[in-house]
Amino acid sequence: MPALSAIRGFKDILPGEASLWRLVEEKARDVVGRFDFVELRPPVIERTELFRRSIGQSTDIVEKEMYTLEDRGGDLITLRPEATAGMVRALIEHNLHEGGRATRLFCLGPMFRYERPQKGRLRQFHQLDVEIFSDPGPLADAEIIVLLYTFLSELGLPDLSIVMNSLGCPSCRPSFRESLVAFLSARRDRLCPDCQRRLAQNPLRILDCKSESCQEEVKGAPTFSAFWCCACQDHFQAVRSALGELGLPFRLDDKLVRGLDYYTRTTFEVRSGDLGAQSAVAGGGRYDGLCRELGGPDIPGIGFAAGLERLIILLSGQPPRPKGGPDYYVAILCPEALGPAFGLVQRLRLRGLSVAADWEPGGLKSRLKRADKAMAAKAVMIGPDELAAGQATVRDLSSKEQTRLPLDDPAAY
Ligand code: HAM
Repeated sequence: MPALSAIRGFKDILPGEASLWRLVEEKARDVVGRFDFVELRPPVIERTELFRRSIGQSTDIVEKEMYTLEDRGGDLITLRPEATAGMVRALIEHNLHEGGRATRLFCLGPMFRYERPQKGRLRQFHQLDVEIFSDPGPLADAEIIVLLYTFLSELGLPDLSIVMNSLGCPSCRPSFRESLVAFLSARRDRLCPDCQRRLAQNPLRILDCKSESCQEEVKGAPTFSAFWCCACQDHFQAVRSALGELGLPFRLDDKLVRGLDYYTRTTFEVRSGDLGAQSAVAGGGRYDGLCRELGGPDIPGIGFAAGLERLIILLSGQPPRPKGGPDYYVAILCPEALGPAFGLVQRLRLRGLSVAADWEPGGLKSRLKRADKAMAAKAVMIGPDELAAGQATVRDLSSKEQTRLPLDDPAAY
């Protein structure tokens, strides 16, 4: 019988890669903690309706990429393609906005999109998602971008660029849209088939279509900036000033629209030159109308999500960091040492030390080899001599210095 493999686009994270994953996740938790965010863990499945109403009916995600199924009760449910919709749903459902301060939430976990798998693009991928609710001001936008930049810089990622735009608001965007549609309608025949369809449903997305012919056609198109109302103009100016004040490198791109319909005003992406076609390591923006759109109160929101697989690819290309092995490897040198060694290992672990051992006695040379292979800092050797003295020989594996410590006193280790 042929052995089964994982589904296309779904990937095992192997033990050899897991330490890098942990490093990224720990850095994420460290940074969001310093920025005063708390964790929310929404379920990975939600009602399909939630994503249709938030991400937008005519987006690629909703039209082509969702894993949707009918459950046994006849309800349409979907594996979450992103986290923001579920975060907003949970915020409304549990009244998390009622604390008198802005609500600052993050979530780490798997997302699912039925896309064509390639380097940096999977069908199950992971995001760090960070959201601020109830803060309509430009400093919240700036802070979220600073957080993202801090996270990526502290991971030591090279060659990143921050790209920003403002999509305007419900009072100024309709006239921009109208003017864009007029401009593009005159060029309809030269747009790709997808964009010909988008022209009626989602014309803004034509601006960042990847097809060369569309990029050529949108070159002289109207720009968001020419249509911003005063409030949008002031808001975006204040975001840029705050980032400039901190010396954050960013550039403006008036064609940056993003693939989700809920955005208003500030949008941004962080891209890397080392990722090929899937260059966005993170993206986000403000979504002031989303909460109300989902039946909640009028609560503004701003956030981003970073794709962890893409961060891992970038970090894997860097010189390896020294991997931390266990504190001790316990080398069992005779059968009589098995019992005492088993007890010592447990006592050391209870004291918070990390300890490796193999439950079979062996020669000194072979066990020291295993201690090296486990990358232990020290070896604890227990043979007949040690047993007779009620002690263990402890060897520092880099300095080779040796001492004797009591077998029954874990505090001495
Ligand atoms: P997004 O741009 O769709 O935004 O995704 C954010 C990031 O997730 C991307 O920049 C990329 O790194 C990663 N990503 C997306 N799709 C895949 C995939 N198929 N394989 C691997 N990585 C992927 C959102 O999801 C919004 N919810 C972000 C947000 C939060 N906006 C406001 N708050």
